[in-house]
Amino acid sequence: MRYLMALALAVAVSTPAVASMELSDKYECGDCHKMDVKPGATRKKKEGPSYKEIAQEYKGKKGVEKQLVDSIKKGSKDVWAKKMGKKTEMDAEEDVTAKDADALVKWILSL
Ligand code: HEC
Repeated sequence: MRYLMALALAVAVSTPAVASMELSDKYECGDCHKMDVKPGATRKKKEGPSYKEIAQEYKGKKGVEKQLVDSIKKGSKDVWAKKMGKKTEMDAEEDVTAKDADALVKWILSL
């Protein structure tokens, strides 16, 4: 019984993460966003902050989900420039549906 509960919990916890890594792949976010990077790692020209860096920066802040959904849908520029030591810009990802953008943001913030 205890084993079954642990298994059910593991499935419940892991399912959203898998679903959103699939979303990240579907929209090719991974071209520019890694899951994690070592501190001081050199970045490609177009590379954005890693998902874990985004989570660290925003987790628990009020109203941040809407802000990040907007960043995805409308694009974002130079918010991360200082931290990443280069110019940073993400084009609007207009083809991401509202539902998928929401799921992606929730997933990123859960990392
Ligand atoms: C061509 C490269 C590229 C692609 C593709 C890309 N991003 Fe980004 N992303 C960036 C860069 C660069 C930044 C930093 C922008 C800034 O500093 O304002 C960023 C920032 C972000 C942020 C943080 C925004 C903020 O307000 O701090 C989120 C969340 C994000 N991206 C999610 C995504 C998701 C989800 C996708 C796929 C639908 C995606 N990105 C696709 C390059 C990219």
